Amino acid sequence: MCGIVGFAGVRQAAPILLEGLKRLEYRGYDSAGLAVQSDGKIVVSKARGRLSALCKLTHDGADIDGTVGIGHTRWATHGEPSYINSHPHMSHDGAVCVVHNGIIENYLALRAFLEAQGYEFVSDTDTEIISQLLAYCYEGDPVEAVKRARGYLEGSYALGILFRDRPEAIYAVSKDNPLIVGLGEGENYMASDVTAILKHTRRVFRLNEGEMAVITKDCVSVTDEYGMGVDKTVTEVTWDADAAEKGGYEHFMIKEILEQPEVIQKTANPRIVDGRIDMGLKRITREDLRGVDNICIVACGSAYHVGCVAKPILKRLCRLPVSVELASEFKYADPLVDARTLVIVISQSGETIDTYHALKEAAARGARIVSVVNVVGSTIAAASEDVIYTWAGPEIAVATTKAYSAQLIVLYMLAMYIGRIRETATREQERELIAELNALPAAVARALNDKEGVQYLASLYYSSKDVFFIGRNIDYALALEGSLKLKEISYIHSEAYAAGELKHGTISLVEQGTLVIALCTYAPLKDKLVSNIKEVKSRGANVIALANEGDEDIAQVADHVIYIPRWGQTTMPSLAIIPLQLFAYYVASLKGCDVDKPRNLAKSVTVE
Ligand code: AGP
Repeated sequence: MCGIVGFAGVRQAAPILLEGLKRLEYRGYDSAGLAVQSDGKIVVSKARGRLSALCKLTHDGADIDGTVGIGHTRWATHGEPSYINSHPHMSHDGAVCVVHNGIIENYLALRAFLEAQGYEFVSDTDTEIISQLLAYCYEGDPVEAVKRARGYLEGSYALGILFRDRPEAIYAVSKDNPLIVGLGEGENYMASDVTAILKHTRRVFRLNEGEMAVITKDCVSVTDEYGMGVDKTVTEVTWDADAAEKGGYEHFMIKEILEQPEVIQKTANPRIVDGRIDMGLKRITREDLRGVDNICIVACGSAYHVGCVAKPILKRLCRLPVSVELASEFKYADPLVDARTLVIVISQSGETIDTYHALKEAAARGARIVSVVNVVGSTIAAASEDVIYTWAGPEIAVATTKAYSAQLIVLYMLAMYIGRIRETATREQERELIAELNALPAAVARALNDKEGVQYLASLYYSSKDVFFIGRNIDYALALEGSLKLKEISYIHSEAYAAGELKHGTISLVEQGTLVIALCTYAPLKDKLVSNIKEVKSRGANVIALANEGDEDIAQVADHVIYIPRWGQTTMPSLAIIPLQLFAYYVASLKGCDVDKPRNLAKSVTVE
C-alpha cells in the first residue's frame, strides 16, 4: 500500500527520497512522486508505473536541487493510477504540497465546499482535498493551518506536508495510519515504514494520534492536539539492515521461505523457560485466562488462515469454543464477544486497518486482547492489552511465508500455555510439544531440501488455468493458505475446498487435466482423502498429493506425491505448508510474474 518518506538535511534530498521509496516498493504501488523545496518554490516530479520511471525522469534525483523534501509511492484507491492522481498533490496556489497514506472519507463534501470557495481540482483523489484544505486554512502559521485542517478531515491519514513559505521544514501528522520519525546527525527523516530510512538511522519514534511533528535538519519538535510539547521516547531499531536485502537470492520470497527454520527457532526458543512454555504476557494474568469462556481469533488473509489452523488445536488443548473471524467482517457483524472472551488478533504488519478496527470493536465490548504481531511498535501492537511478537524479522515479499510460519508457532504455544493454565492440557502434552518445537527447525530444513522436487512439479503445471486445493480438518486450513499463495503471486485461478464438500457442487468443475492438490497429512482422515482423490481422478484430474513419509498407498492413487517428514500432529502444519509455498513460488517464477510485488496487492493494507 502507499509509502511515505521525508528528508530534511544538508544533503540533496531527491536521491535520498528515491532510495527510501525503493525500500518501500515491496508494499505495492502503481505510481511514485516526490516534492522538494527548491529556490523558493516546491518542485514536484512524479511518474506512473515503477519507481524506475521516476528515477529516469529525474536522472536519479540529480535534476532536482534542494535539501528538504517528501516522497510517495501510491497504491490507487481514489482515481486510476495516473500522473495526475499520483502524489505529491499541490494546492492550486502552489503554497502547500502533500503526500498521504489512508483515505479521507468525507472528501466529496470537502471538495464541494472548497469548489464553492473557488478552489480548482485537477485529480480524482481524496488527497488533493488535503492540500487545498490546508491552503484554505493557512494564514501564515503552518502549525495552526494543520491543526485547523485536521478538524475537517474524517477518515485515516498519515501526512507529510511542505509549506512553500517554510522551506526548512516538513510537517507530519497521522491518524490510524503509521508514521515514523527518524533522527540523524544534522538531518532528520520521516517515513511510513522504518525500512525506508534504516540505511540512515536506527533511532526512531512513532507519531501517536493527535500529535504533529515539525521536522527540520537540526531538530524535531512534537506537539499534541492541544499544542503542548511532547517528549517522545526514542527506540533503537535492532533489525539488521541486511535482513531487508535480497542477499543474493533472486526474490525476497524465496529468501524468506528458506529463512523459516531460523525464524521458527527464534520465535519458539525464548518462550521455552525451564522446560515449560511461557508466553510472557504482561497484563493478561493466569487468573484472567482461567476466567475466559471462549476464544475468538480475528485476522485477514494468511493471518486468518493461521487462525483456521489454530482453531482445532486451541479447542483440543483448551476445551473452549473457538471462532475464527475475518477482521473485515467482524466489526459489522455484531460480534458476540465480551469480558469473558479472549480475542487473539493476528497480523504480520500490525497495520492492517480491518484488523485494527476489529481489535477496537472487541476492546469496546470488553474482550481481553492479545495480539500476535511481527512489526514491533506497530499500531495493532500498541493498541493491544498484550502482544506476542513473532520474531520473523522484516518480511518484504508481499506474499507472506516466514511470518505465517512464525504465527503458527506462537499459536501452538499459546494454545498449550492456556491449556496448561486451565488444566485442560497435560504436562505430558506440554513436554511433547516442546520436543516437537525443538526438533522442528531441522525438520523444516529437510522439507526445504526437497525444493527441486517441487520445482519440477511446478514446471509441469505452471500453465494451469485452474487449480483446486483439497483437504480435511487442518489440511483444509492449510489448503486455504496454499491456494491463496498460488493465486496471489501467479495469477492462476485457484480455490481451496474442504474435500468432503467437493461432491456438493464444485466437482462439476473438474475435467480432463484439472490440477488438484490434495493434502493428506492429517492422519485421522487420510483414508477419506484417498477416496476424494479417486473421485477427482475418475473425472480426469491430475493430482499432486501431499503426504506423510511412509504413506506409500497415496502413490497408488495420485499422479505425484510430495512427502513431508512424518511428524507430531500439533506442529505438522509447519512442515506441510513448505511445499505449498515453494510450489506457488516456482510456478510464479516460471510464469515470469513479479513474485515479490504481485499486481494490485500491497504488503500492508491500510485501507478498509
Ligand atoms: C498473504 O500472503 C497476504 N499478502 C495477505 O493475505 C496478508 O496476510 C493480509 O493482508 C494480512 O496482513 P497482516 O498480517 O499484515 O495483517
